Amino acid sequence: MRYPTTFGAVVTGAGSGLGRALALDLAARGARVLVSDIDPDGLAETVGLLAARGAEVHSTPCDVAKWEDVQALARTAEETIGPVDVLCNNAGVAVGGTFEDVSLEDFRWCVEIDLWGVIYGCKAFLPGMRERGRGWVLNVASAAGLLSAPEMAAYNVSKTGVVSLTETLYAEYAGTGVKVSALCPTFFPTKILDSMRGPIDGRAQRTARKLMDRSALSAADIARLGLDGLEKGELHIVPMRDGKLMWLFKRLRPQAFHDALGPGRRGLIRFLK
Ligand SMILES: NC(=O)c1ccc[n+]([C@@H]2O[C@H](COP(=O)([O-])OP(=O)(O)OC[C@H]3O[C@@H](n4cnc5c(N)ncnc54)[C@H](O)[C@@H]3O)[C@@H](O)[C@H]2O)c1
Repeated sequence: MRYPTTFGAVVTGAGSGLGRALALDLAARGARVLVSDIDPDGLAETVGLLAARGAEVHSTPCDVAKWEDVQALARTAEETIGPVDVLCNNAGVAVGGTFEDVSLEDFRWCVEIDLWGVIYGCKAFLPGMRERGRGWVLNVASAAGLLSAPEMAAYNVSKTGVVSLTETLYAEYAGTGVKVSALCPTFFPTKILDSMRGPIDGRAQRTARKLMDRSALSAADIARLGLDGLEKGELHIVPMRDGKLMWLFKRLRPQAFHDALGPGRRGLIRFLK
């Protein structure tokens, strides 16, 4: 089923990076967009960009880690853009470092935003979509949610949870007109490293930045491929070649894959270098 000519769309974490790119792409596809974020300045910039392109745009603050905020987001959507056909559960943060070195506080921070934020979004918006017999939900996971490389436990657990939730919902909503997809990119340039928490040293930060900068795909490319895949009803959208290859390797030889990431060759970052 194709997206309608005009439709309502909600994007979380739309004040930067992929969320902003998703909002711009959705508007170009005919959406009335409700954008949200915890960062008011980033959100205002996104609104300005959308308005400059003539899009119908509304905005509201929303911390996806808070159920009451996400419920309020759904109410605001009803009042501003009307029925929501497309929801992008995009807001996310990263935590790096070995399991022992990452504090429980940082671990919880990551899971509450990256996993609970997506659970809340699905809980708040899916019933209306089912009632109307139409909807598309893009859950932004990561290749980390398919690969579980070392030194990223909090992020891996959150994103694997997002993939698992998406797979569950994909089957539960089959035949209802509602599609649910998990978007699983590897590195691409955004501001995610600026808010990253955990005991990661400057070298690891620089390497991650280098991997982002050398990505062949931009946030705009990932947004386009994500929304194209969502429209086609793809369950796992894995836009990058390196992600496709690593996921294939893991599915074919799961233990050998994790051996390749083990002591001496540790870390997804080192694996990708
Ligand atoms: N950049 C990458 O390499 C990469 C790779 C794979 C997956 N992702 C995923 O893409 C998504 C978007 O990240 P990005 O790379 O654009 O990063 P980004 O930091 O540029 O954007 C993330 C946005 O989320 C917002 N945010 C953070 N906590 C929030 C909360 N509690 N409630 C609402 N908004 C919140 C931030 O203010 C920011 O505007 C994330 O889910 C991330 O895990 C990114």
